[in-house]
Amino acid sequence: MMRDSHTDDESRDGQTRTDGGEPSEARRASSDRRTDGGTDAAGADEVKLDPWGSSTIADYRKLFEQFGIEEFDAVLPDVPNPHYLMRRGVIFGHRDYDPVAEAMREGDDFAALSGFMPTGDPHIGHKMVFDEIIWHQQQGADAYGLIADLEAHAARGLTWAEIDEHARSYVLSLLALGFDPEEGELYRQSENRELQDLAFELGAEANASELQAIYDFDGETNISYMQSVVTQMADILYPQLDEPKPTVIPVGPDQDPHMRLARDLAARMRYFGVTEAFASFEAQPEERPLLRQAYDAREEYAEDPEMPRCGEAADWLRDHEPASADARESAVEKLTNAGKEPLRPRTRIFDRRATDAAFEALIEAVDGEKRVYDEHVDAFDLSQSEAEEIARQVELDNGGYGFLPPSSIYHRFMTGLTGGKMSSSIPASHISLLDDPADGYGKVKSATTGGRATAEEQREKGGKADECPVYELYAYLLSGDDDEFATEVYEECVGGERLCGGCKEQAAELMAQFLEDHQEKRAEWEEKLDELDIDLDTDRKRS
Ligand code: TRP
Ligand code: SF4
Repeated sequence: MMRDSHTDDESRDGQTRTDGGEPSEARRASSDRRTDGGTDAAGADEVKLDPWGSSTIADYRKLFEQFGIEEFDAVLPDVPNPHYLMRRGVIFGHRDYDPVAEAMREGDDFAALSGFMPTGDPHIGHKMVFDEIIWHQQQGADAYGLIADLEAHAARGLTWAEIDEHARSYVLSLLALGFDPEEGELYRQSENRELQDLAFELGAEANASELQAIYDFDGETNISYMQSVVTQMADILYPQLDEPKPTVIPVGPDQDPHMRLARDLAARMRYFGVTEAFASFEAQPEERPLLRQAYDAREEYAEDPEMPRCGEAADWLRDHEPASADARESAVEKLTNAGKEPLRPRTRIFDRRATDAAFEALIEAVDGEKRVYDEHVDAFDLSQSEAEEIARQVELDNGGYGFLPPSSIYHRFMTGLTGGKMSSSIPASHISLLDDPADGYGKVKSATTGGRATAEEQREKGGKADECPVYELYAYLLSGDDDEFATEVYEECVGGERLCGGCKEQAAELMAQFLEDHQEKRAEWEEKLDELDIDLDTDRKRS
């Protein structure tokens, strides 16, 4: 089994494919969802994340526990000049945003990308995402905005004519809000050959039952629908085609299943993985802390503490570690089998899908003492991060992508103006970026509020700004970057100084003004659209 046997007394590594044994992120979450889902009482407060469903999220905190989304507030102090949506908690969660924040601070390369299904007119909910892309672009990101036309056709059944019209409209709003098309890239999925090639490669790493588990697909799900999923995976990794870089995908939390799968696929595409090991055998993640403990306690039991033996460690561990019985038992067994082999920490670089040439190159690239096996190299003088860097470089030199796992940030959904969900199928519930300013004005004026039954009661108790769709408009959009103004509205409301009539009048005027400005800018871009390098019309026949 050893490729290149250095003199030692290590036993064979019985493992064939060593992927570190960690269950994949996407699978873990989808199986969590299944075990506590269903129609029983436990399922009642379950949060379901469905990219194609209607998303209302009753309790954002559940997303942290249930899916491992992290709180944005924890990274906020590390973000230079955070966007107002970040400062106001509208962007509430993230996955792995730290590398993006670090790149921003250090002036390193990073990217931001999001996509839009052209199913209707862009509205104020989309504006949040447009703003997030644009803000990252202004902080130095390579920025991308894409039109998910394949998804709209496959998952929503839109005709190509409808898609063409809407695609144009999304692009115009993105530009009008400040996206710089010279610096960034806009594309339609269907027109991007490189993207589709990448989708094809990624598709080879996923299978139908996996998509079934993540998205509740079944045997009737059409193939193009599945293809639109791998296309989205390719979208998410597209900014890294030239070279790996931290990439943030700003989306609603309903898209999180896509993020988990994309992060898994990014890892599966890697040539090598890096883990910590203590002997030639492969340890499970839960066994590693036990092995570490046994190694650290070597003075207590080893005949020669310079070279503790696995068998000795097994005896010690059996008596000393009561913690998790299963992990201890299997760790003891592995140590026992390894017998006289020295227990010795090392960094393991294992082969996931490298070519022979790449594996040979890896062996060459590992500095210091090393042992080479069929499926992995153990390095004794490299830290994990040094090993990761070497592994990525070898991969890139040998034709691999070297993807970094993509990051995401999640914003809250806006409440509909009529209360409940903001939905494109209920025109009064949302404001389209194409709404006539007078209509926008009218919708705000007739919006539900968090006000009290009478003006008197409101003066006495204050309004419920936290439950008010109009306050949301101020916080998410109308106050723009002006925190003071947003705070003033809030405090005047809850303090009873602000009454809903006047508050809505002010909001309605600001909204009408915003729509007017926005539409003016759209019209300006409309003139220039032909000069841009984006193909907005398809010549597809089927409608
Ligand atoms: N699925 C997304 C939606 O429903 C659109 C989309 C396609 C997307 N590709 C993407 C979003 C890549 C973010 C990143 O709106
Ligand atoms: Fe909402 Fe304004 Fe009324 Fe407060 S005063 S409840 S913010 S409409």
